Amino acid sequence: MGDAYHNTEEGILAACQNLQSLLRKSHPGIEISAAAEYYLDEQLTAKLAAQKPLLTFGNRYVLFELNFMVEPLNLHEFIFSLTTSRYVPVLAHPERYLYYQQQPEKLEDLLARGVLFQLNIASATGYYGKAAANLARTLIAEKWVHFAGSDCHNLTHAQVLEDALRTTPVQRLLSLPLLNHTL
Ligand SMILES: [Fe+2]
Repeated sequence: MGDAYHNTEEGILAACQNLQSLLRKSHPGIEISAAAEYYLDEQLTAKLAAQKPLLTFGNRYVLFELNFMVEPLNLHEFIFSLTTSRYVPVLAHPERYLYYQQQPEKLEDLLARGVLFQLNIASATGYYGKAAANLARTLIAEKWVHFAGSDCHNLTHAQVLEDALRTTPVQRLLSLPLLNHTL
């Protein structure tokens, strides 16, 4: 989110390298890499229009998120710009947006436009509310999930994740042919 956070691609990669070199000493064998969760705003569309490279993971996947309350008017145009720039758009936590909770069929349209979905693991257990849990379970049942994400911001989230992993909906999620296994 360009207005609220001033994370640059260079800053993220430098921090990742710092962490990797610390890990080499304390936990040899753990390899990490970094990308970004891009918020769809004017700064992002300007960056894409100027063909500035985005941080990707895996097979040119670009993780992006949207306004939680109102579906952006330029969403389809943004997806088109990404796919024509040979990126693969991955929508972060589709189950958490109010307008997709109200109209899940809109997600089918995004799938047809080449968007992949990353579900938050703890959504399926109700951590982000009942509506998000309902949509998460629908997406799991329809197999409309390509990645499982932790969205882990702190140690509280880490504990929530540990508990979530033992629940049936999350077991079901993790049994899907997720692209996590191909990274
Ligand atoms: Fe997010």
